Amino acid sequence: MKRQIKIAPSLLSANFANLADDVKKCEKGGADILHCDIMDGHFVPNITIGPLIVRAIKPITKLPLNCHLMIEEPEKYIDEFVNAGADYISIHVECQKHLHRTLSLIKSYNIKAGIALNPLTPLDYAFDAAEYCDFILLMSVNPGFGGQKFIKSTLKKCETLTNFLNKNKLEHIDIEVDGGIKIDNVADIVSAGANMLVSGSGVFEGDVISNIKQLRANAETAVK
Ligand code: DX5
Ligand code: ZN
Repeated sequence: MKRQIKIAPSLLSANFANLADDVKKCEKGGADILHCDIMDGHFVPNITIGPLIVRAIKPITKLPLNCHLMIEEPEKYIDEFVNAGADYISIHVECQKHLHRTLSLIKSYNIKAGIALNPLTPLDYAFDAAEYCDFILLMSVNPGFGGQKFIKSTLKKCETLTNFLNKNKLEHIDIEVDGGIKIDNVADIVSAGANMLVSGSGVFEGDVISNIKQLRANAETAVK
């Protein structure tokens, strides 16, 4: 089973003074998912948006909303993000003491649950948690900011994860990669097995619609 390419613009690089306009452009470009970066100033050195903005985006788009929680104690906020309209929620393993409990909590709302791993966090977490996840997010930059350079060792890590999932008949699990993805490196990331491709500056710098289309076209060339 081939994993379907899903292009997920990260709204972190959108124009927050005119978010609705950028959301419409993402739809026109054919995006599959909107990626919402939630940062608390503790787990990561930046503060962004919370459930209030997710709730505001929900009625203006049909695209699913993927909330990437870069926050400590995410278990306290799951129901708020679900009520705000999250369709996917990922939690970072680095700030979780009770991963199984929190993944079960997310799944109890019938939405998609995932774990996120920082660039040098060992894949062992993913091996153990995979059967409880709908998707696994590999960070390819240090979380906190848009516009950083792709960390190349993510490719090897992504290949290892892909092989593990395929070998264990877990092909239904999406492999999300987030950070530094652009038109010129997206094919390499797909070759390593990723299918859910997050791009912030790669989408919002320049022409949003054509960037999304080009990302998809380049990604599709690498699907095995
Ligand atoms: C970083 C965020 C990413 C970020 C990606 O902490 O999780 O989603 O917005 O932005 P680019 O594509 O510019 O690296
Ligand atoms: Zn993100």
